[in-house]
Amino acid sequence: MGERLRGKVALITGAGKGIGREAAVLFAREGARIVAADLDGAAATETVARAEAEGGEALAVVGDVAVEADVERMIAEGARRFGGLSILYNNAGVLWKDRDRSVLETDGQWWDRVMAINLKSVFWVTKYGIPLLQRAGGGSIVMMGSVSALVGFARAQDAYTAAKGALVSLTKSLAIQFARDRIRCNIIHPGIVDTPLQAPYLTEALRREFEAGIPLGRIAHPREIASVALFLASDDSSFMTGAELVVDGGFTAG
Ligand SMILES: NC(=O)c1ccc[n+]([C@@H]2O[C@H](COP(=O)([O-])OP(=O)(O)OC[C@H]3O[C@@H](n4cnc5c(N)ncnc54)[C@H](O)[C@@H]3O)[C@@H](O)[C@H]2O)c1
Repeated sequence: MGERLRGKVALITGAGKGIGREAAVLFAREGARIVAADLDGAAATETVARAEAEGGEALAVVGDVAVEADVERMIAEGARRFGGLSILYNNAGVLWKDRDRSVLETDGQWWDRVMAINLKSVFWVTKYGIPLLQRAGGGSIVMMGSVSALVGFARAQDAYTAAKGALVSLTKSLAIQFARDRIRCNIIHPGIVDTPLQAPYLTEALRREFEAGIPLGRIAHPREIASVALFLASDDSSFMTGAELVVDGGFTAG
């Protein structure tokens, strides 16, 4: 087992699948105790089993990150079990290409729901989580942005894009406000990653089209994002706060 997160307790939202699950297993392998939060209880429980198989300790907490009472309860359950909290990894998010399109084509209810899950959830997690990080004497907040926050796409998901863009501003605001509490806050902007979130849309033709636009010639494995989250969660990034890390195979450099 590694030591990079020894003694830390990490809340990971959306830990049931994709990047969140990879991060839960990786963080556990590096010594963190994991609070695996997800809407899907069976998926969160499977993540806990995988983290425990690495010799780690983990707790599944089930709820909707867009619902204040659920977030408050999940954080309280995690802190009670492990005696505090030192890492908030705001990973949960949805991409609904069928309902979230251009502003001209999107219904208000879907705009609100995407905003609630991808942005307001982070308000709840930080509102209830930061006091615990303060009590722990410091900590790390990791946000999940997207290359969608950095560049426009002709095939638009405007609610998703706006939520991810707002997270950049919130990252910087939290970084400045809580630096004196030794709480750091940084954001990762992944390019396209091979996860259940993308699976419904990734036809072979679209995959080839995406890969042709990525200088490294392929889409990312979720582990390649989780490893950057580990860096930001750990003291390896101790002098970084308010920063944006682009992890996109070179896509936005072109
Ligand atoms: N996959 C990509 O290409 C990609 C690219 C850029 C950014 N991201 C971001 O990375 C993050 C993780 O994405 P992923 O691809 O691993 O997603 P995923 O769909 O594979 O997994 C997301 C997890 O979040 C959970 N979840 C969804 N809504 C929830 C809610 N309301 N409350 C609690 N849990 C909820 C799901 O049950 C699932 O277990 C998201 O914020 C996403 O926007 C992903």
